[in-house]
Amino acid sequence: MCGIVGYVGNENAAPILIECLKKLEYRGYDSAGIAVIDKNEINMVKATGKIKNLCDKTNDGCSLSGNIGIAHTRWATHGAPNDINAHPHVSNNKKFAVVHNGIIENYMDLKKELVDKGYKFNSETDTEVVVHLLDMYYDKDFKKSVMKTVSRLEGSYALGVICKDYPNTIYAAMLNSPLIIGVGVSENYFASDVTALVQHTKNVIYIEEGEFAEITREKINVFDCTGEPVAREITRIVWDVEAAEKGGYEHFMLKEIMEQPRAIKSAIEPRIKKGKITLDDSGMPDDIMKDINRIVITACGSAYHAACTGKYMIEQLARIPVEVDLASEFRYRNPIINKSTLVIVISQSGETADTIAALKEAKQLGAPVLAIVNVVGSAISKLADYVIYTWAGPEIAVATTKGYTTQVTVLCLLSVFLAQKVGSIDKKTASSLTEDIQQIPKLAQRAIDLNPQIPYLARKYHNERSMFFIGRNTDYAVCLEGSLKLKEISYIHSEAYAAGELKHGTIALIDNDRLVVALACNERLLDKLVSNIREVKARGAKVLGIITERSTKIIPESDDIIYIPEGNTLFNAVAQVIPLQLFAYYVALENDCDIDKPKNLAKSVTVE
Ligand code: AGP
Repeated sequence: MCGIVGYVGNENAAPILIECLKKLEYRGYDSAGIAVIDKNEINMVKATGKIKNLCDKTNDGCSLSGNIGIAHTRWATHGAPNDINAHPHVSNNKKFAVVHNGIIENYMDLKKELVDKGYKFNSETDTEVVVHLLDMYYDKDFKKSVMKTVSRLEGSYALGVICKDYPNTIYAAMLNSPLIIGVGVSENYFASDVTALVQHTKNVIYIEEGEFAEITREKINVFDCTGEPVAREITRIVWDVEAAEKGGYEHFMLKEIMEQPRAIKSAIEPRIKKGKITLDDSGMPDDIMKDINRIVITACGSAYHAACTGKYMIEQLARIPVEVDLASEFRYRNPIINKSTLVIVISQSGETADTIAALKEAKQLGAPVLAIVNVVGSAISKLADYVIYTWAGPEIAVATTKGYTTQVTVLCLLSVFLAQKVGSIDKKTASSLTEDIQQIPKLAQRAIDLNPQIPYLARKYHNERSMFFIGRNTDYAVCLEGSLKLKEISYIHSEAYAAGELKHGTIALIDNDRLVVALACNERLLDKLVSNIREVKARGAKVLGIITERSTKIIPESDDIIYIPEGNTLFNAVAQVIPLQLFAYYVALENDCDIDKPKNLAKSVTVE
């Protein structure tokens, strides 16, 4: 996810653009850049790292003059974070400049066509094809060149483009990527979201998918993809600046919980082509599994919990032994691994010290290492042999939500991919499983929609002194994550326990009014779980049952119920964990906790 912004008016554009860009930094922050038109020339400055570096390079924008410009803060998708790959990108003749948020999926074909026509590419980005297309189609008509260019793009884009021949006009276009137009007085804007603009104007225009806007200081015209004008109303934003940074949500964590359907879709879409799973973007060779006889997955915290779900999926489908280990343990136990062990490391930040150390240990022992990571250009993404990005976008809240669910989603894809590689499933099974994976974003949304009662349940149970989360098989793996979410943001002690193990000692802690959250979504093991629930009920526990929406079992034994949408049990961890994330969130809210920045924690644990 990136942040884009544009301005045209009577003021010096660069300082305004930089101020707006700072409000978008949560969307991406591995590089930034700005381009303005001054005396009919495009001047551009770019900087790797946070926006502060761009501010230092441009004296907060004051070193650039001109009343029209565009700016960008990047969350790298194609090409490492550096000055060359940073946006804006300019055409070879410096006539056009573009900023972009999204992924142009057909950029390789377009790039080949443009290179064959003599265009010179400077960056590794998909975005750069836009400026060369603009130039290729340009016959002095900027609007026509924009229309022809966007008609060639597939995938997702929110674009802002300027042309030095048109020093008073910006074009902004969108498809499957957020973009709004800001309406000022003798000045107008575009941006990725309200956050950037609310300090300047609360009057915005939302354009529709496939439309584009012609923006000058005097007026804004909106057109459909054929160039026909369309009427779009001005909407008044009611948020204040602080709220806008969270997209209107009270906390980044809730925003990121709600973003999960879109984030999960971003993790899936580039990896399913014509109904088949492809992980070409990982760099893994076709014969990756040729000499592999076992897999070890190592990570920390929630990433470790995602790894636990991965164990069940990969063993079930690919029939390869999978060992899961905490990175902080793995590196000190003299692990027995070699070139026949595929080591998978999982990390949202890609900077976790223990996971980095485990990765280095694995490489030292000769094992091929695959990283599942969110941050492009992070240490782990550079050290691993192969990388599968989760494409969750920047995650601001310390307690991970979309970071975890996109990791689980990638593991779903990987389990089917590996099973096909080793031939343990046939084409028909693979295709059916792939369809099940494509349902996950919808099931994630349904898991949110099915449970409006969660704030009520949080109010009912927010004073519990401790809680137990019990489940079996993949449900147990989800209990681990549900328990951690509750602990780290509400500070209530909780423990996840394999339901069948409780009676081997820990049940001694179950007494009157102890809350037990029972995850009962695995049809095959449901009867066993009913017995475990009866065991704790008999000792006075209260039970919050979590069941699939068509199931009726455990309802009689439960004090309260949370419903999960029906899905492939093996791939349903995402839908199961979302209500647990919301339960933890609302319990913490009831307890007035600092939800986005819980005490003692950091977003990335870069110390051992
Ligand atoms: C998750 O909510 C926690 N913030 C923490 O357990 C986290 O998952 C762990 O530190 C691993 O971080 P990583 O995914 O960035 O490596």
